[in-house]
Amino acid sequence: MTTLDRVGALSVNGFDASSAVGLSTRTLDLVERRRRVLGPAYHLMYETPLELVRGEGVYVYDADGTRYLDMYNNVASVGHCHPRVVEAVTRQMSLINTHTRYLHEAVINYAEDLVGTFPDRLDTAMFTCTGSEANDLALRIARHATGRQGIIVTESAYHGGTVDVAACSPSMGPTSVRNAPWLRTVPAPDAYRVEGDLGTWFAEQVQAQIDDLAASGIGIAALMIDSIFASDGILPEPTPFLKPAADVVHAAGGMLIADEVQPGFGRLGASMWGFERHGLLPDIVTMGKPMGNGMPIAGLVMQSSLAEQFGRDLRYFNTFGGNPVTIAAAQAVLDVIRDEDLVSNSAAMGERMLAGLRTVADRVDSIGDVRGAGLFVGVEFIGPAGQPDPAEALRVVNAMKKRGVLISATGLYGNTLKIRPPLSIEAADVDYFLEQFATVLA
Ligand SMILES: Cc1ncc(COP(=O)(O)O)c(C=O)c1O
Repeated sequence: MTTLDRVGALSVNGFDASSAVGLSTRTLDLVERRRRVLGPAYHLMYETPLELVRGEGVYVYDADGTRYLDMYNNVASVGHCHPRVVEAVTRQMSLINTHTRYLHEAVINYAEDLVGTFPDRLDTAMFTCTGSEANDLALRIARHATGRQGIIVTESAYHGGTVDVAACSPSMGPTSVRNAPWLRTVPAPDAYRVEGDLGTWFAEQVQAQIDDLAASGIGIAALMIDSIFASDGILPEPTPFLKPAADVVHAAGGMLIADEVQPGFGRLGASMWGFERHGLLPDIVTMGKPMGNGMPIAGLVMQSSLAEQFGRDLRYFNTFGGNPVTIAAAQAVLDVIRDEDLVSNSAAMGERMLAGLRTVADRVDSIGDVRGAGLFVGVEFIGPAGQPDPAEALRVVNAMKKRGVLISATGLYGNTLKIRPPLSIEAADVDYFLEQFATVLA
């Protein structure tokens, strides 16, 4: 496998107009108009793009009324159009929407509620609109606190789209990491490929880059980690493999930024936050995507000493970040996660899915590995010599779509299915998914 074969998670399962066949006149027209007015930077997914017009719970509906089981959406994480989120947003929008330069009790209530879901030392919250902004702010805070610039990420990481955070996102392609002398990458801790103790191995990779940053006179500010390694191919086990890496970062005076945009809010089943599975304490935790079930709210939680230091020397304002309407959505999401016991449901449904997928995998040579935590599941496809097989992963993704089930693919080589349904999914829908999967692989 050469570096040319590394596709970058964000280009996996992209729609390709030049090879598309059988598109309806309406789809062709929308694709063409979209291309003309929005340009080529935005990708569409699937061999034939979807025009979704409605969602309810775990289902989404296209413009023709066709229903799909959404096994891919970790934004509408408590279910599409959850009535309590819709009601909370509608109510607040019809009262007032302001920003964080005015007092608003709901914003304070939510921040208190949110930090209450973290270990005691992580007690201060800040709000942004996107995960990218949250990570960007985390970089600024870590750099300000350490007085150093160096950042370490995994080699197919995705952490967002601002200038610095895009540089921390090698999965966007080599040009995104150009002109970032402060960036170092490490191979992801892939238990399917690495032999021996994964925690020790990963800590050694991180230590080598800490040493390199020191030798370059840059020094480490932070290791930024998505603890489920979503764009590196979904790497959940065997926990707590991140603890030794966190220890070497702290020993070097660096900070650990846990990017919980993907694993956070109960997705991994065992706990509310992904880092908790690893028995470590990050300095800064960032979050987004499912936080407002589709409303643009994201944020950071950190130790108060970091927030104090940053706030004393610098300032932060985000016009829309943490406004009362998005906070209403976020509060409803947190309430629903608790009231509907969605963390436990994530664990139970995830187990059911893993068991069913492993039964299929036992019969199919092209599946090299099935892995997951809670409702974040990966299925890795390999060829006869054990090499990554992204073509088979893509075939399965599109065949599942034809059967009314939405999934996608990810990873350094694009050969791992990414399966992430809403946390509210029920057993009947998991079983339906498994039936379709078994048929597609038969
Ligand atoms: C792990 C991770 N971090 C950060 C981001 C960026 O979030 P946003 O798109 O809200 O800026 C993403 C988005 O996919 C992500 O997956």
